Amino acid sequence: MQKTVLVIGASRGLGLGLAKQFSNEGWQVIATVRNSQQADALSQIPRVRVETLDMTDAASVEALARRLAGTQLDALFVNAGVAGPQNKPATQASEAEVGQLFFTNAVAPLRLAEHLLSLVDDKQGVVVFMSSILGSVETGPGMGMSLYGASKAALNHMTRTFVAELGETGLTVLSMHPGWVKTDMGGEQAPLDVETSARGMVEQVTKALGSGGHRYLDYQGDPLPW
Ligand SMILES: NC(=O)c1ccc[n+]([C@@H]2O[C@H](COP(=O)([O-])OP(=O)(O)OC[C@H]3O[C@@H](n4cnc5c(N)ncnc54)[C@H](OP(=O)(O)O)[C@@H]3O)[C@@H](O)[C@H]2O)c1
Repeated sequence: MQKTVLVIGASRGLGLGLAKQFSNEGWQVIATVRNSQQADALSQIPRVRVETLDMTDAASVEALARRLAGTQLDALFVNAGVAGPQNKPATQASEAEVGQLFFTNAVAPLRLAEHLLSLVDDKQGVVVFMSSILGSVETGPGMGMSLYGASKAALNHMTRTFVAELGETGLTVLSMHPGWVKTDMGGEQAPLDVETSARGMVEQVTKALGSGGHRYLDYQGDPLPW
């Protein structure tokens, strides 16, 4: 049976790479962009249905949930995220910058997942939140981008609450680190290309189908310390 994935934030970077790789592997792909004018690369991919979504806008999330009513998802991949005020420490970033960073990276992904959870196959489906090694409380501090790292640590924390509240389920939840990847966010100096990271992440999602539990891992399947 053909599997279906919903990729959130697929206009560019890793989200676009994930949409391509899932499609290469024969999945039906539903993928979102914030701006429908920025869907050219995405719409070229076979078996992709493009949807519009701003993950931080409650009305936009509601509207997507309504459009997808009745769709059965094997995987929900919440990839969208922002770097925030990258070079500013917490003492220099404005309240608005910090608010937008934490709301986008830590709160909006969970609100979205709560809204769309009923679409995901609860016997063997997978929900993935795009985290980062920088969100590891054990290893992240000192690696740079401290505010961003803290927002991903908050995402991990929120995800563990989400999992704790799921109760008896066959669903698997992954908190994923894609590696350090050449994208607008990762920068040119990153060692990994999008294709390699996306191939690894799609492999991890495929392996996770039906396995159950919650794991924090990287694109190669290696576990990370919380
Ligand atoms: N690249 C890395 O090395 C790296 C490492 C660890 C973790 N990550 C994480 O991986 C994910 C993807 O990163 P990337 O490197 O591909 O970044 P990117 O090139 O900056 O792409 C970010 C994507 O997220 C979308 N997005 C941002 N805010 C959104 C919102 N409010 N609603 C919906 N979509 C939104 C963007 O859409 P627009 O085009 O509309 O802006 C874009 O498609 C992020 O969560 C990031 O934190 C990346």
